[in-house]
Amino acid sequence: MKTKTALITGVSDGIGAAFARLLIDKGWYVIGISRNKEKLNIFQKKLNTKINMFIGYQCDVQDLDKLKLIAKENNSPSLLFLNAGIYKPIDSSNENIDVYREHLNINFLGVINCYESFLPKMMLNGNGKILIMSSIAGWIGLPKSAAYGPTKAALRSFAQSIRYDLFSKGISVQICSPGFVDTSATSINDFYMPGLLKVDDAAKLIYKNMNKNKFEFSFPFIFSSFMKILSLLPDKISLLLIKKILLKN
Ligand SMILES: NC(=O)c1ccc[n+]([C@@H]2O[C@H](COP(=O)([O-])OP(=O)(O)OC[C@H]3O[C@@H](n4cnc5c(N)ncnc54)[C@H](OP(=O)(O)O)[C@@H]3O)[C@@H](O)[C@H]2O)c1
Repeated sequence: MKTKTALITGVSDGIGAAFARLLIDKGWYVIGISRNKEKLNIFQKKLNTKINMFIGYQCDVQDLDKLKLIAKENNSPSLLFLNAGIYKPIDSSNENIDVYREHLNINFLGVINCYESFLPKMMLNGNGKILIMSSIAGWIGLPKSAAYGPTKAALRSFAQSIRYDLFSKGISVQICSPGFVDTSATSINDFYMPGLLKVDDAAKLIYKNMNKNKFEFSFPFIFSSFMKILSLLPDKISLLLIKKILLKN
């Protein structure tokens, strides 16, 4: 059987790392991207005998030139998993312009940089899947998420839109919108996180859902269904419920 290749951004930690390990265990070859060399080395060492199934690049998703070089050096991936992202909770009644910019540059424009870099080869190949990491925070504005949430909403709209251009090119687009997953990103939250998932369980759910023919998937089922309903309710009710659930300590 031909080995499949995945390109994963944000591979050194959290969901990206867990998902990369799972794919490698299933026989995939993974090209991984993240910024911190040390974290990347630690990830690589833990692969033990499967180290030849992975190549890691120290690269910031803000660096378009380097991303284009990585794309040139490698074959077209069957899966482009645009996962790298940051999350910094803010109090928007304070001045936070640098934090807003950082989120926009990494979470949104970082995805566009990767998309533009790897798409040409995928189009030449005429197949592959682009999986974009959004969040339930993209469905409805949540407490402390004024910098993070809008980037995830933008990604959802971006993913919906590019489908029309890629339908005829053999490339499918999917979006993953999880609830809370236990990673270093969420460890800073000082509020109750309903349905908090273990990172390896999140990786398994991503794998299961990416093989289904649906545009968007979310998990865990109960919390994400609840959030979906909240996002559709009249504002007065959703505001009240979110205050009650997420702001309880
Ligand atoms: N955890 C959750 O509850 C949750 C829920 C919904 C959605 N998500 C989304 O899932 C994705 C992964 O989150 P996570 O919780 O796994 O976070 P995490 O544990 O902090 O891991 C983030 C990964 O992204 C990399 N990264 C960050 N900025 C980067 C940049 N500028 N260029 C390249 N790599 C970069 C990090 O490595 P370096 O720092 O070395 O670059 C790390 O490998 C994010 O997009 C996040 O928004 C998470």
